[in-house]
Amino acid sequence: MSTPSASRVLQPVTIGDLQLKNRIVMAPLTRSRSNDDGVPPGFAADYYGQRADAGLIITEATNISAQARGYAMTPGIWSDAQVAAWRPIVEAVHRRGGLIFLQLWHTGRISHPDLHGGELPVAPSAIAAEGQAFTNDGLKDFVTPRALETAEIPGIVEDYRHAAQQAKAAGFDGVEVHAANNYLLEQFIRDSTNRRTDEYGGSIENRLRFPLDVVRAVVEVWGAKRVGIRISPATTEPGKTPLDSQVVQTFDTFVDALSEIGLLYIHDIEGVTQQTRDVPDGIDFQNLRKRFSGAYIANNQYTLDLAEETLANGDADLFSFGRPFLANPDLVDRLRTSAPLAEAPKQYWYGGGSVGYSDWPGMNGPISLK
Ligand SMILES: Cc1cc2nc3c(=O)[nH]c(=O)nc-3n(C[C@H](O)[C@H](O)[C@H](O)COP(=O)(O)O)c2cc1C
Repeated sequence: MSTPSASRVLQPVTIGDLQLKNRIVMAPLTRSRSNDDGVPPGFAADYYGQRADAGLIITEATNISAQARGYAMTPGIWSDAQVAAWRPIVEAVHRRGGLIFLQLWHTGRISHPDLHGGELPVAPSAIAAEGQAFTNDGLKDFVTPRALETAEIPGIVEDYRHAAQQAKAAGFDGVEVHAANNYLLEQFIRDSTNRRTDEYGGSIENRLRFPLDVVRAVVEVWGAKRVGIRISPATTEPGKTPLDSQVVQTFDTFVDALSEIGLLYIHDIEGVTQQTRDVPDGIDFQNLRKRFSGAYIANNQYTLDLAEETLANGDADLFSFGRPFLANPDLVDRLRTSAPLAEAPKQYWYGGGSVGYSDWPGMNGPISLK
């Protein structure tokens, strides 16, 4: 094992036409600091700017439309006020030489009528998730969503296209389509949540139709080399969402199509988010990586040692770190010097103001954003 300072993981790398300072990606982290209009706060520019030593930052999941919302206090990108608030955030990252992609989100059934003026959330089929939604009045049980009409689906593709254009207007370097963690796109992919009988349900080809239409619309805005996608074939949360019954075949077909489109990267949650790296029999992330022509971002419980080993084996290109970035804005420097990592108490993960969010110092004091 090489010494940390000589780590290849921490050396610059070129992905597509982007030059990354290192192979560490800041994973998307919902922090629930936005207002009721989905406008992120001014101090989010400090938070993201402080973390600009990552090779690439992927923002917290960001709603593509009002219909997309599933959690109180999460940001959006559909309105011009939201774009105006994202712009200084992007600029703070760029000022320190960083790169930042926006994660495009529609929560589907992982939502609650409180976030939709009393109307039901939408989903491929009227099947309720298990568990509770995060509303302005605290946690509330998920409800049975309304199944989308066939004719409504192209309109959601257009919402993604619009959000992609808005992200461009805000100055982002690219976008990540959030097709992971059992939100709307993955609800269409899995037969456990998609029981449709129209052209968006049934066969694998039909279940992939909407997610692939979304990807193509976003690529039309950005070009394929500025679009990545996040997938999580082995994750059952939130909502205790059962895996697809043909999970291997479904995701092989999906990744083959994404490869054909020529996306910049696939960002795979290996195992169950935050819980385990174990995967059920048959799911093989290396197989997915080999099928894909672009870069592979590996995620879930990575340490520098595991990233080193994985890179040496040729099994990933980039490594995204989630929780370690919460309290370590200078994570890359700490990894480089084997410095201890701070841990963010859970009370600061979601909701609140700048405390426990943009006030974590670097190991040598506050980080200058100039
Ligand atoms: C507070 C918190 C918020 C998260 N928000 C998102 C999100 O908005 N989008 C997403 O795709 N994943 C989200 N995740 C999952 C992380 O991106 C990542 O997959 C997970 O934390 C595992 O990586 P880690 O072991 O490096 O933390 C979140 C995780 C945490 C802890």
